[in-house]
Amino acid sequence: MPKDPRVTDFLTAMRPAAASVTLVSTAGPAGRYAQTVSSMCSVTLAPPTLAVCISLTSPLADALTRNGVFGVSILADRHIQLAQSFAGRLSGAENYNFGLAQWQQMYTGVPLVRDSAAVLDCQVTRSFEAGTHMLALGEVLACRAGGFPALTYSEGSYGTHTSRPAGAG
Ligand SMILES: Cc1cc2nc3c(=O)[nH]c(=O)nc-3n(C[C@H](O)[C@H](O)[C@H](O)COP(=O)(O)O)c2cc1C
Repeated sequence: MPKDPRVTDFLTAMRPAAASVTLVSTAGPAGRYAQTVSSMCSVTLAPPTLAVCISLTSPLADALTRNGVFGVSILADRHIQLAQSFAGRLSGAENYNFGLAQWQQMYTGVPLVRDSAAVLDCQVTRSFEAGTHMLALGEVLACRAGGFPALTYSEGSYGTHTSRPAGAG
C-alpha cells in the first residue's frame, strides 16, 4: 500500500506537542508486559478514566485487553534510562528489563514504578482498534501522586516542565 502523503506532515506537526512519558504495564493470565507510552490522557472524572494508545504490533496491546487491567506510571525526570529500556532503545538484555526499576502494586496487582511522578491502577472498560493502534479506556481504581517532577518528551528529546507565571505572556 502506498504511504499516505499526510503522514510525514502529521509526524512533523506532532513533534512540538509536549507529553508526559509513562510506562503502561499489565500483568495476569496473559503475561506481564510494560512499554513506554506518551499517548496517555485523562478522559473523564465520572468515573475517573484515562486513555492509552498502544501499537497493535506490541504484545502489550493484546495482553492488556486479555488481562483486563493496566497500570500507568507517570515517570519522574530521572527515569530516562527506564523509558529507553521499555521503548526497546537500549541493547540486548537492557531492553524491557524489569530489573531496572523498583515496582509496587496497588489494587489490581499490575506493576507500577516506585518513585514515579504518579501511579494509576486501572481496569479496562473499553478498547478498540484505530488504524495501527489500540485505544484502551481504563477506569482508575487506585492512584497516587509521588511528588517528583515528571519526565516529558517533545521535539524528539526528553525534558521536564518549567513553570512560568500565568500572566507571563
Ligand atoms: C518517548 C516515547 C513515547 C512513546 N509513546 C508510545 C505510545 O504512545 N504508544 C506506543 O504504542 N508506542 C510508543 N512508543 C514506542 C514504544 O515504546 C516502542 O515502539 C515499543 O516499546 C516497541 O518497540 P520495539 O518493537 O522497537 O522494541 C514510545 C516511545 C518513546 C521513546
